[in-house]
Amino acid sequence: MTEQMAALKKEIEKRRTFAIISHPDAGKTTLTEKLLLFGGAIREAGSIKGRKASRHATSDWMEIERKRGISVTSTVLQFQYEGYHVNLLDTPGHQDFSDDTYRTLVAADSAVMLIDAAKGVEPQTIKLFEVCRMRGIPIFTFINKLDRESRDPFELLKELEDVLGIHSYPMNWPVGSGAHFRGIFDRRRTVFEQYDGREQKVTRTPLTGVEDERLRERIGDEPYQKLMEEITLLDVAGDSFDESAVQQGQLTPVFFGSAISNFGVETFLRQFLELAPTPVARPTSEGLLCPETPTFAGFVFKIQANMNPAHRDRVAFVRVCAGRFSRGMNVAHPRTGKRINLSSPQQFFAQDRSIVEEAYPGDIIGIFDPGIFRIGDTLIESGSLTFEGLPQFSPEHFARVTLTDTGKYKQYNKGLAQLTEEGTVQLFRVANRTEDLILGVVGVLQFEVLEYRLKAEYGVTVSLTRLPYQLARWIVSDRADELLFDRSSCLLVKDQDERFVMLFPNEFATRWVLERNDGVTLHSTSNAL
Ligand code: G4P
Repeated sequence: MTEQMAALKKEIEKRRTFAIISHPDAGKTTLTEKLLLFGGAIREAGSIKGRKASRHATSDWMEIERKRGISVTSTVLQFQYEGYHVNLLDTPGHQDFSDDTYRTLVAADSAVMLIDAAKGVEPQTIKLFEVCRMRGIPIFTFINKLDRESRDPFELLKELEDVLGIHSYPMNWPVGSGAHFRGIFDRRRTVFEQYDGREQKVTRTPLTGVEDERLRERIGDEPYQKLMEEITLLDVAGDSFDESAVQQGQLTPVFFGSAISNFGVETFLRQFLELAPTPVARPTSEGLLCPETPTFAGFVFKIQANMNPAHRDRVAFVRVCAGRFSRGMNVAHPRTGKRINLSSPQQFFAQDRSIVEEAYPGDIIGIFDPGIFRIGDTLIESGSLTFEGLPQFSPEHFARVTLTDTGKYKQYNKGLAQLTEEGTVQLFRVANRTEDLILGVVGVLQFEVLEYRLKAEYGVTVSLTRLPYQLARWIVSDRADELLFDRSSCLLVKDQDERFVMLFPNEFATRWVLERNDGVTLHSTSNAL
């Protein structure tokens, strides 16, 4: 092995690139902040939280973000911890839940599923989990807020299995919850970690096993008895730990804790980093591409416009998949056949940008986009391979768009085309009525973003009429245009790549079509992940 290859391999082995998936309010911001604190990336607790509330006062982001006090875009948070180089992809949530949230997961190698111990599996978690499952990436679970009255842990694990269909292995187990929360018992290392309220002082007691009498002294007779019974039950009746099942996303290691009290977080982080995969090989037109391949290759998974309205710039976020990237590198852009000089690639920490000199597989770099990139584009140092395109995910809101100032067709078409390429909205044309345009979005805020940007950047005013559809299904059939369907409730359209798509009001209507049309399959994404 050459020295260069050994150096590349070493960098790859250090990297862990993941995203947190959760429902709003489960504690993602709080957990992120604690993780960053361990990595020394932020100095004070509260920095991220503060950012959430006040960042828009100083932000130069879009007006709409300022007005709403939310972030329409996501960033990458990078930190070092015990020799690991961690890339945490921040997935937009809340009202700004969008296609970007899904696409970010395509750039991640693993996911942390954060669950509120009092609420269990919630709707947004289910959607995000589905994307992770399609990709088969490992999923680690952190059950949060044990300092509050929580649901029975067995019940929560059962819910993971029943609702998400994933097996679980509790890496640790909580003793009580809320006012009776005593701590967590680490099953594999047989260590008890004592909870001291919000003191944030961690006392770890190594034990010989769950039957160790010191445990009884720590937590008292009754909780001790209960813990013994529960651990025995888990050992006998629970799933066993199987690392290959974890790597394939079939078994989720589960951790309990309280992000706000910084309890169980470091234990989780350590074990997560040990088990989480290094950057994985990615499918391309020429088969799987290993990260150790010496020449640089990456793909665009997100385009963010107007980070600085004064310059009207766009930034394309590239996930490095293979080789070493260095500043000033000249790369090919296979879709246009051009070569591009990447002279000022950027790295992001929250809102601060800095120039990146080099990057390795698993890293995310932001590059200036003069308007040539599309979501899914490949960038490659040499050769001709391309990464498989990023799928489109089923929108959940639909609207018919019409231009109100009819003199501006050119700008209107240009604006719609660009915003579609950026992934702000999905554009469908009604089959046989190509002027009839339907927009689809995952998060309803995207409609506002679209209207705002068409006006601000292209000088175009549109009117949007909301439609009652809730799902899009890509149709696989030799005779998609002859399908039998209920025309009063469904609509047959084509996407930007001329693929047939049916818009449905609900799941029931999809079954109706499947039952009446032999050999047809319907997909919730444009292509398999
Ligand atoms: P999100 O990003 O997933 O939406 O969640 P975020 O971290 O903002 O947390 C949502 C709420 O849950 C916050 O309370 C936060 O303090 C609380 N929280 C997070 N982790 C824990 C935990 O481990 N235990 C308890 N008890 N609460 C937790 P809030 O009242 O909405 O905001 P704040 O006033 O505390 O800032």
